[in-house]
Amino acid sequence: MDLHRFLLPRSIGSALACAVAGLLFVGFVAAQQRVSSSMPHLEQHGGVTQLIVDGQPFLMLAAELHNSSSSSLDYMKDIWPRLAATPMNTVLTPLSWELIEPQEGKYDFSLVDGLLEQARQNRLKVVFLWLASWKNGMSSYAPVWVKRDTRRFPRALLTESGSGEVLSTFGEATMQADAHAFAAVMRHLRETDSSQHTVLMMQVENEVGVLGDSRDRSAAANKAFAEPVPKPLLNYMQQHRDTLMPEFREIWQKNGFKQSGTWQEVFGPGLRTDQIFMAWNYGRYVQHVAAAGKAEYPLPMYVNTWLGDLDTPPGKFPSGGPLPEVIDIWRAAGQAIDIYSPDIYAADFAGWCRRYHRSGNPLFIPETRGGADGKANVFYAIGEHSAMGFAPFGIDSWRDSENELGKSYQALMQLSSTILKCQRNGDITGFLLNRAHPDVSVTMNGYRLDISLDDIFGNRAETGYGLVMATGPDEFLGTGSGFRVSFVPDSARPAHAGISLIEEGQMVDGIWKSGRRLNGDENDQGRYWRFSKEGIHVERSVVYRWE
Ligand code: DGJ
Repeated sequence: MDLHRFLLPRSIGSALACAVAGLLFVGFVAAQQRVSSSMPHLEQHGGVTQLIVDGQPFLMLAAELHNSSSSSLDYMKDIWPRLAATPMNTVLTPLSWELIEPQEGKYDFSLVDGLLEQARQNRLKVVFLWLASWKNGMSSYAPVWVKRDTRRFPRALLTESGSGEVLSTFGEATMQADAHAFAAVMRHLRETDSSQHTVLMMQVENEVGVLGDSRDRSAAANKAFAEPVPKPLLNYMQQHRDTLMPEFREIWQKNGFKQSGTWQEVFGPGLRTDQIFMAWNYGRYVQHVAAAGKAEYPLPMYVNTWLGDLDTPPGKFPSGGPLPEVIDIWRAAGQAIDIYSPDIYAADFAGWCRRYHRSGNPLFIPETRGGADGKANVFYAIGEHSAMGFAPFGIDSWRDSENELGKSYQALMQLSSTILKCQRNGDITGFLLNRAHPDVSVTMNGYRLDISLDDIFGNRAETGYGLVMATGPDEFLGTGSGFRVSFVPDSARPAHAGISLIEEGQMVDGIWKSGRRLNGDENDQGRYWRFSKEGIHVERSVVYRWE
């Protein structure tokens, strides 16, 4: 800020001028602080990190649009009301470098402004995906002035199976240009959204990493690969030695916890070392871009990951992307990224949630399957891993006449303030049941809850999913489908627990409105708290102990 513009004429006296300048400066700092404390931010309570919007925790019941949808306001016009009706509260949508900066240094924010206006009209929040240097490992979203100038913006060199059109992480000018554009976007959001808070978070790039080879083999990359591992990375590893992700620690340990040497000396020869090397270089680059944006407007920022398990060779999935085994490397490269997120299309949904919800990393799922899978998985993510958000991909093309996801979101939305409170206090559990894993037991609120596939008169559910919360002494609130719960006191005496009441109902503005009292077949003659497989239920139960 240029304080000189506000200074009084010299004749009034420098002391007065200084005092005024001082007051203005204090005012400016206070205004900045107001912007940052009231804007969307992350807060940690115990082991749980939550998104805070307008002073309240916020659960993102979201979905992501197809890649090209939000490039046209006209195309989007009819989509927003459909999304709002699902219901959902947040939409994840791309913002591409090529459309924001079509000519170098000339920014066009008309799309951003239009999208925000449309979102606000439909009372939806937005998470923007900054598709810039990389999207799915490729560089198709870079503006053509970047693509054309391969000298200034060098490409990665990959073996024949890789593409020639991928920007290299070793392009210093590319990193600065991307960071510059991203900073301009964030500045614009500060100017246009810092009072309304329509934009909640930013995704920086999309599923980065090299495909078709395990690492960049350009001259600059080869030179860096032959050099010693950078000191900041080694220092980080040393300082966090006991808390590193076990997969990464194991690689370092196998090679003798070396404190210096080249990449191959410290991590051993092989493809994993190439992956680690690329993780450092993508991490360095993306953290730099994110930090430039945060300097303008510090919204929470995350990166998303194309997953690959430890048996898959890097290069078959984008090598260097933020997989669990290299999250420590990304963290060593910078602090601007707040969340490392999985795009979970893989079968083992629960396993990937567990692998990402570790080591202080909060769970946010920016892409996953919708339909019947998403409808069930959202309960597990939110209930078992305190996920702050869940967003199935490509919602604008769904022809889901059953509105599967919407049914789950409807139940979760009315319960969201209770869910967020229980996440903070650790009073919530979530589960996915099927014939191979038909039951689970958890201890909460002084009871052991035996949760199993619902089964009434021999009519057993194929799948069951839901979440249960402890909402008061002897009191529980649950939602989901196809499961039943029995209670056992977790102390020796009194030895038994019984059901004193079960009712269905609705949470309206934080107040429970009860519906039918459920008894007889609906609680298997008093033996179980049941959530039948027909539909998604919201129910409250109160239990008692007896001797
Ligand atoms: C993952 C990517 O991140 C998305 O942008 C999209 O390409 C989906 N894959 C398609 O399944």
